[in-house]
Amino acid sequence: MKVIIRKNSAEGSLWAAHYIAAKINAKAAVSDKPFVIGLCTGSTPIETYAELIRMVKAGEVSFKNVISFNMDEYVGLPVEHPESYHSFMHRYLFDHIDEKPENIHILDGNAKDIEAECAAYEKAIVDAGGFDLFLGGVGEDGHIAFNEPFSSLESRTRVVTLTQDTREVNARFFDGDFNKVPKQALTVGVATVLSSKEVVILAFGSKKARALKDAIEGPMSHYCTLSGLQAHPAGTIVCDENSIGEVKVNSYRYFKAVEEAENA
Ligand code: GLP
Repeated sequence: MKVIIRKNSAEGSLWAAHYIAAKINAKAAVSDKPFVIGLCTGSTPIETYAELIRMVKAGEVSFKNVISFNMDEYVGLPVEHPESYHSFMHRYLFDHIDEKPENIHILDGNAKDIEAECAAYEKAIVDAGGFDLFLGGVGEDGHIAFNEPFSSLESRTRVVTLTQDTREVNARFFDGDFNKVPKQALTVGVATVLSSKEVVILAFGSKKARALKDAIEGPMSHYCTLSGLQAHPAGTIVCDENSIGEVKVNSYRYFKAVEEAENA
């Protein structure tokens, strides 16, 4: 696992956007095959998406040959609801870039047959060639996508019941009203994320410090599903001085030293 530490979320987001764009461009230079990316929602990726939008508009990267799959979606929330992950993604990314509408995939939380929807999603990912890169965030309790604590690290796309903690944290998007937050969601599994050739996780701010400590220094455990990243050959956490604040001083120094050595 690599840990990239930047001063704040603005600098971390710039790093992530430029890294993703470079990966898209590198594949496009040698292959006609699409770049398959996993995408996340939440407040964390917004600055990364803003920089990717700027880069698309400046001609520095194109999403014309990119296929995306989002991580998750609430169950039972109308697609047009401003806080559906469909609305979020169009608002903060898709409406401003050149990705083809048919290449955008987001789980349908209103599907009549939810199990069939989840199975079809896993198949569509395989049919697209599998993920080149998965961009994720992390919940305060260390959950990745909506894989709440005690989700299997072998889990695949499925319906999940949200924890009270997650619903309370997400109430800020629903007029602060916990009761308006849907109780269930569809989510890719931990194993779906880890099937990607590469995984990049964004985590900024002191509220994520405990999650990062558990994921980086704790044992690999279903208690903190982000810790599954420890078993991935190409996992990167992009964080800031606040979110990395709970790890041991020597871990912090080690990550800084690795990055310095690689850039030397
Ligand atoms: C939700 C999403 C996660 C996201 C998390 C953190 O639970 N399902 O994918 O990582 O929120 O959100 P934020 O970035 O707003 O802290």
